[in-house]
Amino acid sequence: MKKADRIYYGGDYNPDQWDDATIDEDMRYFKEAGINLLTLPVFSWAKLEPDEGVYDFGWLDRIIDKIWENGIYVCLATPTTAQPAWLSTRYPEVLPVDIQGRKRTHGMRVFFCVNSLKYRERAAAVAEEMAKRYAHHPALAMWHVSNEYGTYCYCPTCQAKFRLWLRRRYGTIEELNKRWHTSFWGRILTSFEEVTLPTELNDDYRFNPAIQLDYMRFVTDSTIECFQNEYDVLKKYNPEIPIQTNMSGFIKKLDQFAMTKHLDIVGWDNYPWPTDPAYFIAMKHDIMRGLKGGQSYVLTEQSPNQQNWQPYNKLKRPGEVRLLSYQAMAHGADTCLFFQMRQSIAGQEKFHGAVITHAGHNNTRVFRETAALGAELEKIGQAFLEGRVKARVGMILDWNNWWALELSSGPSQDMDYLKTFSKYYKPFYEKNIPVDVLSTESSLEGYSVIVAPMLYMMKDGIAEKLQKFVEQGGTLLTTVMSGLADENDRCIFGEYPGPLKDILGIWVEETDALRPEEQNIIKIKDGGESGMTFGRESYSCGFLCDIIHLRGARGLASYGEDFYAGSPCVTRNEYGKGRSYYVGTQPEDDFLLELTGLIAEEAGIEPLYPAAAGVELTARENERGCVVFAINNNEESAWVDFGDERLENLMTGEAVTGRTMLAPRDVIVAKINKDN
Ligand code: GLA
Ligand code: ZN
Repeated sequence: MKKADRIYYGGDYNPDQWDDATIDEDMRYFKEAGINLLTLPVFSWAKLEPDEGVYDFGWLDRIIDKIWENGIYVCLATPTTAQPAWLSTRYPEVLPVDIQGRKRTHGMRVFFCVNSLKYRERAAAVAEEMAKRYAHHPALAMWHVSNEYGTYCYCPTCQAKFRLWLRRRYGTIEELNKRWHTSFWGRILTSFEEVTLPTELNDDYRFNPAIQLDYMRFVTDSTIECFQNEYDVLKKYNPEIPIQTNMSGFIKKLDQFAMTKHLDIVGWDNYPWPTDPAYFIAMKHDIMRGLKGGQSYVLTEQSPNQQNWQPYNKLKRPGEVRLLSYQAMAHGADTCLFFQMRQSIAGQEKFHGAVITHAGHNNTRVFRETAALGAELEKIGQAFLEGRVKARVGMILDWNNWWALELSSGPSQDMDYLKTFSKYYKPFYEKNIPVDVLSTESSLEGYSVIVAPMLYMMKDGIAEKLQKFVEQGGTLLTTVMSGLADENDRCIFGEYPGPLKDILGIWVEETDALRPEEQNIIKIKDGGESGMTFGRESYSCGFLCDIIHLRGARGLASYGEDFYAGSPCVTRNEYGKGRSYYVGTQPEDDFLLELTGLIAEEAGIEPLYPAAAGVELTARENERGCVVFAINNNEESAWVDFGDERLENLMTGEAVTGRTMLAPRDVIVAKINKDN
């Protein structure tokens, strides 16, 4: 497959909005800013195919040639996210039906039924037209299929296909009744034809978790088919060109481990909120790197300045875009792309940040910052291309688990899987201990610690895999709301946490749900008894409190209050050559910082380097060596200590060693010099 020989830098360009003189001017500015890749024509279907089967590609030919004459690559997008009005009008079946049962009219974008055969036929046709013309164009670096999939549709086609999907999955209606446990609330079905989609018309989307869960799986599968429909056409013309689709930053509604199996490279759009802490953004990058087992990914979009769609669109502060860009690359991105290159003069996104603003020239802060970063990447980008992150801590993330957990009525309405996941990610991040995000299907080989927060759904084989991992010497850390249900959200009979209870050496009898204003206390048993020394005698906890019985495990801490005061809330169990930890509540962050510190220490895992708080460190290794990223997320100077190691600052060429200062929001990218 065609590989990038540089960090691709640039982003979405919509030249169909501009005249020739503006495009010529853009080319000059792009070169000045070190832009080497443009993504187009994401929204141009109506212009490329003004009527069914009538194509007008002349304008795009000229623009692509011009871009290439200027030495810039293209990421060619099939324009299928926004179907032409004639298509919706002539074939209303392509339009989706929403959860309220309303047939939508033409408008918006990502506004089509992924199961519509007419949509797929026309999408494949326009993709084929593009592939025929450009699959061997020297400018073509990669394909970008459609844009931010994610439509949930409830039309008759989807209903019929869902029934078929269920029939394939479960075979007989008896099996379906069993899996969905339809004897509850008298929902027994006598044929697949009686299955209705979970909508607001029947409220099954919130009151029937088993149907909703399968429907969400079905939407993922349907979206994969819709993507694959174009993927296959593009591949036929040139298998060498990598294909991706940009996933929206909001990642819950499609199972992205499932989706990305079908992509050559993962692509995602990073639009952090100004209030998002650095660890939360870092975690999302690590998720993206995890989707294809550590393979580097494409940062398909980020804003070079503010957004327009947040309630208050804060400017990115000077240096912030650079910092966010390096953060992406530090965690595994091999591109740095923006939405958008030139700000549109009208429409919904007229005030969205862009490299070239309405001012129309290069004398702006945003342009200067873009150009400075472009120059830097030109200089240093090759050093870490395809570099892998080496992690000994793995965290299991599972979309089906996410859906089922949050669909569940009780024990608390505040169930938030990603937030819980991030609470366990954060302490490793703060210690600069690299983390890989794994699926339930990933191999656990090579990891010393596996963290599986709220692993509610026990998919086939996962318990056995974790058991083997611990038996062979690994450390497992899991939490409240684990080991409760099967793949169809049927609870596991016998004591909780189901198949995990032997590894954990406990059983959980009850789970108390606290109101947001209520708290309990984690009281640490004294050092000798727990075998671990914590900094404080007690910590606060809340949200959920498991009432745990020890069956081989030791209690590290117990509740301080309520009728279960004195019963264990955090446990440790020796199992085989390894050990497992269970946290039966939601502790305050300081407790998790300490617990994960002790666990890492016990497993012999050290931070990459010592550093001040707020300094983020990662390392990426390729066959040419190991590159370290040090990112100062603080607004003050901060230190990192490289000790005796000698590194080469790739930006300045200077040696870096020992205690090194980073200016506010500054970044060091340095190569470990093996010869010294
Ligand atoms: C998404 C889309 C882009 C653009 C940006 C704006 O990521 O893919 O087309 O609308 O949002 O932030
Ligand atoms: Zn549909």
